[in-house]
Amino acid sequence: MPWRDRPSPYRTWISEIMLQQTTVAFVIPYFERFIKKFPDLRSLAGAKEEEVLALWAGLGYYSRARNLLLAAQKIVRQYRGVFPNDFDSLISLPGIGRYTAGAILSIAFQKPYPVLDGNVSRVFSRLTAQNKTPEEFWRMAEDLLDHERPGDWNQALMELGATVCAPENPKCGSCPISFTCAAFKTKTQNLFPAPKIRKNAVKLNWNFLWIERDGKALLWKRGEKEKLLKGHWGLPEIGRVKAQVGSLLKSASHTITHHQIHVRVYQGSLKEEVTYPMKWAPKVELPKFLVSSLWKKCLPKAN
Ligand code: ADE
Repeated sequence: MPWRDRPSPYRTWISEIMLQQTTVAFVIPYFERFIKKFPDLRSLAGAKEEEVLALWAGLGYYSRARNLLLAAQKIVRQYRGVFPNDFDSLISLPGIGRYTAGAILSIAFQKPYPVLDGNVSRVFSRLTAQNKTPEEFWRMAEDLLDHERPGDWNQALMELGATVCAPENPKCGSCPISFTCAAFKTKTQNLFPAPKIRKNAVKLNWNFLWIERDGKALLWKRGEKEKLLKGHWGLPEIGRVKAQVGSLLKSASHTITHHQIHVRVYQGSLKEEVTYPMKWAPKVELPKFLVSSLWKKCLPKAN
C-alpha cells in the first residue's frame, strides 16, 4: 500500500479518506494519481474544486473530495499550513471525524488513539460474540490499543477485518487470533455481527436536458442546496433553463448512497441565452466536468 511507505500526515489523511467505503485495491491508483497532482497540503489548498472532483471521478461520495479541499484551505489559513497533531483541531476540520482523526494521530504521529471502522467492528463483534453499540466498540478499541505501536496496531486490525475476518466466509483457519475468538469457539462466526437494518431506498426522478450547439453541450453547475452531487457540473435539469423539451434520448438507473435515482435525458432546444451557473463545454471536454459515474450511463451515444 503506497501510503504506508512514508506515512506523512498529509498522505495518511488522503489515503484514509479514500479508503472509507472503498477497498484498498480500488483506492491505490486513485491515491497515486492524487498524490502526483497534489503532492502536499499547499498544492491541494490551491486547487480548484473541479480539479479535485475530477481526480475523484469514480470513487463516489464526492463530499469527501470537497471536504478535503476545504480542510486543506483551513489548515493553510488557521494552522499556517502545518498539519495539526491534536485530536480537537483535527476533528474541527471538514470531513474529519473520530475515525480519521484517530487514523492520522496513530499512523502519522504515533499517538495512542484508536480507530473503529466497519472492519474493526466486525472483528470485535466476532471476538466477543456480541453485538455492541458503536460507543461500546470504541471503548473496546481504546482498551485493546497497543500504546507502543498504535498505528501498526490499528492498521493490522483493519487489515485483519478486510482480509481474514471477512463478512462472508471468514478465513478462521488462518486467523492469528482465532484462539481467543468467542465466535470461533462457538461456531457462530456467521451470526456476528447481526445484519444491519437497511434504510429504505429513497426513490428520485431526475430529468435532464441534452442541449447541443457548435460541438458544445450545455452544462449546469449544481448549487450548494442540492441534495446530491452538490457543486458538481452536470446536465441542466428540466426547469432550470428555458428550453423546449424534445424526445427522450436515454434513461438509466443510478444509486447514490440510499437514493435510487431514475434518470431521463431529453433532447432540448434553448429559448434564451444562458449565464453562470450554466455554461457551454466542448463535447470532448465533458469527461473533465461530468465526474459522477451517473453521467456515463445517461449521456447520449457518441458523446
Ligand atoms: N482500511 C482503512 N484504512 C486502512 C489502513 N490504514 N490499512 C488497512 N486497511 C485500511
